Amino acid sequence: MSEAPHGAPIKTPGQLIAAVIAGFAVPIVIIVLLAYYVDNTTRTGAGTDELSAQQVAARIAPIAQVNVRDATAPRVYKTGEQVYQAVCSACHASGAAGAPKFGNSGDWAPRIAQGYDTLWKTALSGKGAMPPRGGTSPDDYSDYEIGLAVAYMANHGGASFQDPPRPAPGAANAASGAAAAPASEASGADANAAQAQAAAAAIAAIPQTASAPAAGGGAQSADASQAGKALYQQVCQACHAAGVLGAPKFGNKADWAPRLKDPMDTVYNYALHGKGQMPPKGGSSASDADVKAAVDYMVSAAK
Ligand code: HEC
Ligand code: HEC
Repeated sequence: MSEAPHGAPIKTPGQLIAAVIAGFAVPIVIIVLLAYYVDNTTRTGAGTDELSAQQVAARIAPIAQVNVRDATAPRVYKTGEQVYQAVCSACHASGAAGAPKFGNSGDWAPRIAQGYDTLWKTALSGKGAMPPRGGTSPDDYSDYEIGLAVAYMANHGGASFQDPPRPAPGAANAASGAAAAPASEASGADANAAQAQAAAAAIAAIPQTASAPAAGGGAQSADASQAGKALYQQVCQACHAAGVLGAPKFGNKADWAPRLKDPMDTVYNYALHGKGQMPPKGGSSASDADVKAAVDYMVSAAK
């Protein structure tokens, strides 16, 4: 009995080629497709997305950042409160490093007496442990915004300053820039008013020194010593009676003696233009003659 031969499946060269293709080419195609598939899927495993567009952008950002501002676009300013919260509160909320504490009128009164413009400038330029602009850059907070924060803080410390003039649109950054000149012209008057108010706030008893004829102002006060005494009582005693802030105390020889070693002109100059915590003219807008008279009055009491 003859069995049908167990026929080999490949009998012709054509079939051989087909088998080779089936045996090698198809798996290779599958492997290629798989590799392609794997490469194309989103891989989110740790450390595998380093080349993603966002990651790359994030990595190169600090070097590649070119911040193009549209100078004509209306700039959105932060409010004084926002600037305070974001920047100034770091020190001023707790009074860290000797910063005048927010809401503490005792801390603020002598500073307010310097007038708004001085405080604004000091906040921009720094003072002692107070870094310029609270440590920010002009790109983050404009002069104007720092000014708002100053007004916000000072007003919570007892002042009634007005906000600085909003810079004209287009004056990109500088509230004090040329473009804002007309506005700052107007603010000059405001500032004077604010300064007068500030002095009043700091030295509770002064009724608008500027408009107080009692404090002199007339050519050659008839009685200079009278005017000096009046001004002392209205303004200077706020600090000099008790020696607030290290002011030489009224009638205290030991406090005054070292200062009186300077020529009288120097002492007058300190009183007129300020020295350390001593605000120019004690924060008032009295005439030079009356301030000198007040100095004479104080000096004669300390001899
Ligand atoms: C790193 C701490 C710190 C930060 C932040 C800070 N300040 Fe001050 N600030 C101080 C200190 C300290 C003083 C007291 C300086 C002195 O009298 O020597 C001060 C004083 C001031 C004064 C009074 C200046 C004077 O002439 O008496 C003003 C105004 C002021 N800061 C505004 C600001 C504003 C506005 C900000 C936020 C933009 C700010 N500060 C952020 C520490 C700071
Ligand atoms: C806000 C507080 C304050 C007020 C108000 C004030 N002073 Fe003073 N004054 C001081 C302080 C503080 C000193 C010490 C300054 C220093 O030596 O650094 C001082 C120092 C002086 C000195 C001595 C300067 C020297 O060292 O030779 C004279 C003079 C003086 N004040 C005059 C006046 C007169 C006049 C007034 C009023 C018109 C006045 N002060 C109002 C705080 C004040």
